[in-house]
Formats: sequence, structure tokens, C-alpha cells
Amino acid sequence: EKFSLIPLRRVLVTGGAGYIGSHVVYCLQKTRRYKVISIDNNHNSYPAALDRVAQIARDALPENASEQDRDSAEIDAIRCDLTKADEVKSVFEKYGKGGIWGVIHIAAYKAVGESTEIPLTYYANNVSATLSLLQIMDEYDCTRIVYSSSATVYGTPPTIPIPETTRLKADSPYGKSKVMSEMIIDDLCHADTKRWRAISLRYFNPAGAHPSGLIGEDPRGRPGNLLPLLAHMAIGRVKESTLKVFGNDYPTPDGTCVRDYIHVIDLASGHLLALDALAPESTTFANCPDDAHYKAYNLGKGKGMSVIQILEAMRKTTGFDYKHEIIGRRRGDVPDLTADPTLAEKELGFTAPQNLETMCKDLWNWQTKNPQGYEHA
Ligand code: WQD
Repeated sequence: EKFSLIPLRRVLVTGGAGYIGSHVVYCLQKTRRYKVISIDNNHNSYPAALDRVAQIARDALPENASEQDRDSAEIDAIRCDLTKADEVKSVFEKYGKGGIWGVIHIAAYKAVGESTEIPLTYYANNVSATLSLLQIMDEYDCTRIVYSSSATVYGTPPTIPIPETTRLKADSPYGKSKVMSEMIIDDLCHADTKRWRAISLRYFNPAGAHPSGLIGEDPRGRPGNLLPLLAHMAIGRVKESTLKVFGNDYPTPDGTCVRDYIHVIDLASGHLLALDALAPESTTFANCPDDAHYKAYNLGKGKGMSVIQILEAMRKTTGFDYKHEIIGRRRGDVPDLTADPTLAEKELGFTAPQNLETMCKDLWNWQTKNPQGYEHA
């Protein structure tokens, strides 16, 4: 009951209908402290995802739930293109100055290879749209943002595991768009330390799904990422049984690339910790050296797994008889991206306890319950 005295804080999630976004919305609703607004252009997502998330929240409400708790289970899902500033502005206008407490900015294009073919589209969607979002937030006195960044900002890191102090040296327009956006947000917080507070979260490799199997990763078209591709192969959505492994001549234990896979629910929970760290009552920035209320944190497990290890884990989970064939390296791939997660653990209280077996089990549960994803739900 004590919480009902504190009004819900409205949080805008960009890309809220997407794989990461829908799991972040789920975590926000679980606290019953936030009222979620989602904007998404559904370029790589389905509106049905948020219907499911809201259903999970409603089903979790106790019989005697307060009016405010019921309200926290409803999502204002708005179809909106982040590159259209007037559309974004109308969302803030709807809630007025100070009406939106904070933003979790996840919407972006994220395919490394594609970004080298259409760099201007990536810079428009990932950088200009972020800049215009920040300008509108500033105008409407919404000065807290959790920004979705990526381990790709490190390029080929000099040390493994990778600490946040590693120099930023992205190799693709996608990775550079993340570095540029981080720098814009950093400079904004330095310029206006009284009002602005921001945290960038550098995702390693999200995997898995909500254990209910109601929401999960559902990329439009053929998956580019390893785990959803393996799930589509096992369910028959991709009519192939041989995984093409992009190179086994890397300086890694079995020659294939190593990545730090983190359960999407653990990753999403990290966003709540970051959001809480931006609240006035938080002490996270208390000892910020130059009083700049901006910090970047890795979200990873700190455990690297190779392509072959992932293949074996999915073989075990799905029982599918995968074959694999070693072919040439994929442009933009780096040998190893394994996080040093200690800063987020120390300053945000972040943990990523779920292991690879659970990630594969939850991914497979989602895939078997939704063989064609949300489209034919
Ligand atoms: C993992 C490993 C491939 C497919 C991607 C995005 C990155 C970030 C996280 C947003 C690599 C290998 C894959 C295949 C393969 N997204 N692989 N055969 O590249 O680490 O990162 O997701 O921030 O921007 O690029 O993930 O799943 O594509 O690849 O051998 O058919 O699997 O070479 O080593 P990646 P991935």
C-alpha cells in the first residue's frame, strides 16, 4: 500500500515492441512503479508483442489490486517513427512538460553488415533520431535517459574481458552510430549537470526469452543472429540443417568467435537498475569525478562461449541434428567480445545469473509455442 502514495512515473520506451524492448517493458511493469509508453515503427517488431506483455502484467495482478496497480499494467503503445520529429514531439505534447519521467531509448537498426551497405540510413535512424529525441526531451523537461548501446563500440578490444575504460573504436557504421550517440549524451550531461542524468548500457549478446514463452525474439525475415537462426532451423522455419560457421581461424580456443551471451531477462532487469540509478534519490552519481551525471556500463555475464559451444547447447536443447560447415569469415566479426561486468555489479547491483542452458531452453520454449512468431499469432 505504501507505494500507492507515490504516483506512477511515466517512462517512454523507444522500440518497446522489439525483442529487448518488450522484455524491458515486462520488467518495468513487474515493479508496478512505472506507467509505460512505447513508441515503435514496427520495422523489426510486431505490435502483438506488447499485447502479450500487458497480458502478463494483468495476469500477475492480485484480485484486490489497487486502481494504480491496474493502471501500471496498461501500456500506451504508439506507432511512431523516431526519425519523424513531429511524431515524437506529439507524444511528449500529449503528456505535457514534465509528464514523462524518463526515457529508455532502445529503437535502432542493429545489423553490422547491413550498416556498411546503407550507412546514411543507419546514421539517420540511430544518430539523428537520437539527437532529435534528446532535443525534444530537453524541451519537455524530460532529462533522464537510459541509452541502449552495444559491445560493438569496442571494435576489436585490446584486452579480454573488456572493461568500460577500453577505448571506443567501432569498425562499422552501426558501431560508430552507437559511439556517436554515447558521445552526444555524454556532452549533454556535462553541459547541463543540474538537469540531465544518463546511463548507456553496452549490451553483449542477448539471448533467450521470457519463461512463459509468450514473448521472444522474432526478427522479420531470415535471422542474422546465431541463436534465433538455430531456433528457426530446428523449428523448420529456415529449411536448412547445416549451420554455416563464419570462420574457425580466429585466435580463440576452438578457432570460432567467442561472445558473451546474456539472458534477455537479466539484460532487461539491468535497465530497471539503471533507471533507478537516475532517480534523484539515487547515490550512484554522488561521487562522479567531474559531477557529470553520465556513465556507461557493460551488460554481460563475463563468460565467453564459442559458436561451436552454442551449436552444441542448441543441439542438446532442441534435439535437432544440426550439421555445420566452416566457411569464410563474416565482415565486421571480431574474435572475442566478453564483458568485464564488475562495474555494473558494483555500482548498479547488476547480476546476470541465468546460464546458457536456461537461455537455450527459454528460446526453444518461445519458438515451439510460436513456430511462426507473432505474425500468425
Ligand atoms: C554470433 C557469432 C558469428 C550466424 C550481433 C550484432 C551486434 C549486437 C549483438 C546489437 C559470430 C557467428 C552467426 C551464422 C555464424 N546486436 N555466426 N554463422 O555478431 O556477435 O552481434 O548481435 O547490438 O550488433 O552484430 O551476434 O549472433 O550475429 O553472431 O558463424 O549463421 O556467431 O560469426 O561469431 P554478433 P551474431
